[in-house]
Amino acid sequence: RYREEAEPKTEQEIWDERQTFRAVGKKKKSRYDVDSSEYVFEDHVEFVKSAMLSKGVDDDVRRDDEKNAASSSSKPAAAVEAKEVLAETRKRLPVFAYRTEFLEAVADNQVLVVIGETGSGKTTQLPQYLHEVGYSKLGAIGCTQPRRVAAMSVAARVSKEMDVVLGREVGYSIRFEDCTSKDTILKYMTDGMLLREFLGEPDLGSYSVMMIDEAHERTLHTDVLFGLIKDVARFREDIKIIISSATMNADAFSTYFDDAAIFNIPGRTYDVEILYTKAPEADYLDAAVVTVLQTHITQPPGDILVFFTGQEEIEAADEILHERTKGLGSRIKELIICPIYASLPSEMQAKIFEPTPPGARKVVLGTNIAETSLTIDGICFVIDAGFCKQKTYNPRSGVESLIVTPISQAQAAQRAGRAGRTRPGTCFRLYTAWAYQHELEENTVPEIQRTNMTSVVLMLKSLGIHDLLHFDFMDPPPAEMLVRALEQLYALGALNDRGELTKLGRRMAEFPCDPQLSKSILVGDKYGCVAETITIGAMLSAGNAVFHRPKDRAVHADNARMNFARGGGGDHLALLRVFTEWTDSDYSTQWCYENYVQARSMMRARDIRDQFNLLCERVELELSTVGLSDVQAVQKAVCAGYFYNTAKLASSGEYKTVKHHHTVFVHPSSVLANEDVMPRWLCFHELAFTTKEYMRHVFPIEPQWLIEIAPHYYQQKELVDARKHKMPKSQGLAAAAAADNPR
Ligand code: CDP
Ligand code: MG
Repeated sequence: RYREEAEPKTEQEIWDERQTFRAVGKKKKSRYDVDSSEYVFEDHVEFVKSAMLSKGVDDDVRRDDEKNAASSSSKPAAAVEAKEVLAETRKRLPVFAYRTEFLEAVADNQVLVVIGETGSGKTTQLPQYLHEVGYSKLGAIGCTQPRRVAAMSVAARVSKEMDVVLGREVGYSIRFEDCTSKDTILKYMTDGMLLREFLGEPDLGSYSVMMIDEAHERTLHTDVLFGLIKDVARFREDIKIIISSATMNADAFSTYFDDAAIFNIPGRTYDVEILYTKAPEADYLDAAVVTVLQTHITQPPGDILVFFTGQEEIEAADEILHERTKGLGSRIKELIICPIYASLPSEMQAKIFEPTPPGARKVVLGTNIAETSLTIDGICFVIDAGFCKQKTYNPRSGVESLIVTPISQAQAAQRAGRAGRTRPGTCFRLYTAWAYQHELEENTVPEIQRTNMTSVVLMLKSLGIHDLLHFDFMDPPPAEMLVRALEQLYALGALNDRGELTKLGRRMAEFPCDPQLSKSILVGDKYGCVAETITIGAMLSAGNAVFHRPKDRAVHADNARMNFARGGGGDHLALLRVFTEWTDSDYSTQWCYENYVQARSMMRARDIRDQFNLLCERVELELSTVGLSDVQAVQKAVCAGYFYNTAKLASSGEYKTVKHHHTVFVHPSSVLANEDVMPRWLCFHELAFTTKEYMRHVFPIEPQWLIEIAPHYYQQKELVDARKHKMPKSQGLAAAAAADNPR
């Protein structure tokens, strides 16, 4: 909406752009020469062949491929025909040949570990096979996914294959979005949602089969599910459990599940030639873009998949690729650029599955979402930057951060494998063979060993599991992590001093969010502002993209944002004002455009708020409200959940966390980032580590509130203010700058 439509280009401009493209190429030593049909790697983007695998895209394969591409994009076929095509496609999947054997194995074993290459049909086909032979008559067939995107897209695909409306017989359930009905017999859900379902149905009584899919991902929730489901299998003889995984760790799963049988689906995979850079890449984003363009210009047909770490990188690469290809004219085939990341709107996610039209090439820019959870057909070239974002948690400081980390060798193998599904392919690794050998860990550390467990511990406590140190974890978390979680829950009042769940804790567990947030909501009752705390909670849960900030209108956007900050109360109150005004505008999209607010995030926030509303009813919490008149009441309620996250302005002009004296910074996107006089005390929503440790979403507090709210956690002496006067921000900044550049 904000992007101005480009004027049609003149011939001269098009020519100029081509010149620029070449000039850029020249400047960088003709790394990509449009006229050359040779694939020239120079300097640092030179790949050395790993020599282990040979490659050959012979002409037959290529011709076949073009034929297929042509037929799949021919006129929209009649519905009947489309159905037949889908049925045919199902039969061509590797898993189809093993349908009978698989069903026999399920009949013979209560717990079955299924191992198969990504794309062999585990997720979409196995639940359908079980349904076809009648398991769904005994109860629903559930299938968990670590990622929301995968749960949604797989359910959509299966509903299409079964020719039913999504949300009826086939549905999905993800946090804040339930797309199922009482008729649902095939249910895809995130692992976190199944964990929640345990609270209401600890024996999974409504299911006949539960498939824990993508088990190799070893997410925190999947790992906890293992323990719970192993127990269910013991006292429910009639339930079937399937643990399915890409080709990793099969034995470990089998051993954990009391030597469960392993069912192997032999894949059809082709050789993938692996190429490394000769020298480390200084800028892998640039290297990836260059490699995409070189591949596009010089290589035979076949789509490209690039692995980046997250949305920002993907958007940057998307922009550069558009920029660099738009001047190429008709001599170069069309390059269709498809981003894919978790928060991408679902209608745009669907684009990656559309067949590539003949003559064009698709390049998918993805995160590790595309490693094993989504299968995109037609990929022949993989470009692997070698990094992913990984959550890490320091139980001592309580800092959780999402850090760009080198992937593991196992992940590298999965990524490369994506190139060899339909014919031999190529994987360009934007790191050296030496780095692969020496700098990548063999396997990724399971999430349970590097994450904050507070939420999960609260859930386990609600399930009546008291002795967490002896819970049957596949890989137990460090005891320190568990102790820290117990301490936090105790401080929040969810557990008593014997570690038992309190009444408050039980109510907190009803809310599908962090215990801190549910505590804020529940404390809202005391301050008469439950309506406000659920709005803030919904806005915080809707994602980080509430405000829209187009580069060419940054000043307008910043002004619009600062308007919401008037009246004080920092970021949380600003979010509350955004939601309130949007509600007053009758949820107007126009209002969103005018105020540089993302309409999509607002709609999501509204949905989430509705759900919080229902949950409040369930725990009999009255929806009290103070509106926007009592800023302090709202701040205190939020602080009552987040009192762990406090920082104090030190004499150096920097903020230090109150408890651990960690240096932290106000995130530039905060409405307080440009205050003239910075508040002495802050409460923050979370710490995010990017270039520095940033506090995201902050609001000013009075230290005496902490004594009022968390007397068991804070002592008066920690909250004394050594300095008498507020320091003007300019001074504070100068001091910070000086600290940044020690002479
Ligand atoms: O789970 P696994 O990796 O073994 O395979 P799958 O996800 O069941 O995918 C099997 C096939 O279904 C893929 O090759 C795709 O052709 C197709 N599929 C699709 O078209 N759209 C989806 N959202 C998911 C799968
Ligand atoms: Mg799968």
